Parts: sequence; C-alpha cells; structure tokens
Amino acid sequence: MIDILVIHGPNLNLLGKRESGWYGTVSLDEINELINKKAKELNCKVKIVQSNHEGEIVDAIQRAKEWAKGVVINPAAYTHTSIAIRDALLAVGLPAVEVHLSNIYKREDFRHRSFIADVCIGQIAGLGPRGYLFALEALVSLLKNKEGG
Ligand code: DQA
Repeated sequence: MIDILVIHGPNLNLLGKRESGWYGTVSLDEINELINKKAKELNCKVKIVQSNHEGEIVDAIQRAKEWAKGVVINPAAYTHTSIAIRDALLAVGLPAVEVHLSNIYKREDFRHRSFIADVCIGQIAGLGPRGYLFALEALVSLLKNKEGG
C-alpha cells in the first residue's frame, strides 16, 4: 500500500464560502471525500492535513519522511512566500505534486511565482478540485513505476 500525504494550506478550510469565482462552491470536506474515493480506486492510503500555519505544514512534511512515499500539496498563499515549505520538501526529498484550484497564471503577478514549483515533480493549476485527483493519480503512477509495479 502506497501512503501519500495531502496538504491543504491556509484559508482552504473556507472553500465553498470563499471567492467562489476563483475557487468554486465545493467545500473542503467534499474535496476530501473525492480524494479519499480516488485513493481507494488507486489502492493507496492518504492522510489529509489542512493548516493555516506555516510551521505546522513544515512539521507535517518533516514527519511524512517517516511514513509517506509522496506528497500532494496546495500550499495556498504560502506558495508565493514560503522558503520554509520549499526547504522542508527539499529536506525530506519525497516526490511532490503542487496543486492549485485556480489558474495562478491568470491572476495577480505575485501569484505567478511559486517557491515550490521547481522542487516538485509537476504542478496542476486551474482545474478545480479534480486537480487533486489528477495529482494523486500521477503520483501513484510514478511511484508504482519506480517500484517496478
Ligand atoms: C490557491 C492559489 C493561491 O494563490 C491562493 O493564495 C490560495 C489558493 C489555489 O488553490 O488556487 O489560497 O493555492
């Protein structure tokens, strides 16, 4: 069984009630249900964490080294500011996929820069909640190939 850590960054707990033009009307609980369903289909195990605190996200990534094979992460606003999250990903060396619900390249200039993009395998932006599902699918597929499965 492949274990994956899924991280939702700050303010994503407000999904469904927050800027629906960018983020849609689906709540975080509903997204997490979709992620869990996809994980079952893919025969992998996910642990999902949401935090509004940078240090908690760093802690979750550091702990993942002990149990997870990969990370799906939407760092939300920390994408554009956090060298600490970047360094945590580099430190653990786990393969990671970056997800954004909105297309950050269609938005303000400050959202065009991601401090984690180049330490991730890839990035999915602008596809809404299904971005998490594609990310999980891609990560599991890459991990299975690596293991020769
Ligand atoms: C986001 C995009 C970020 O720029 C923003 O700060 C978020 C959400 C997204 O999923 O589209 O909070 O990561």
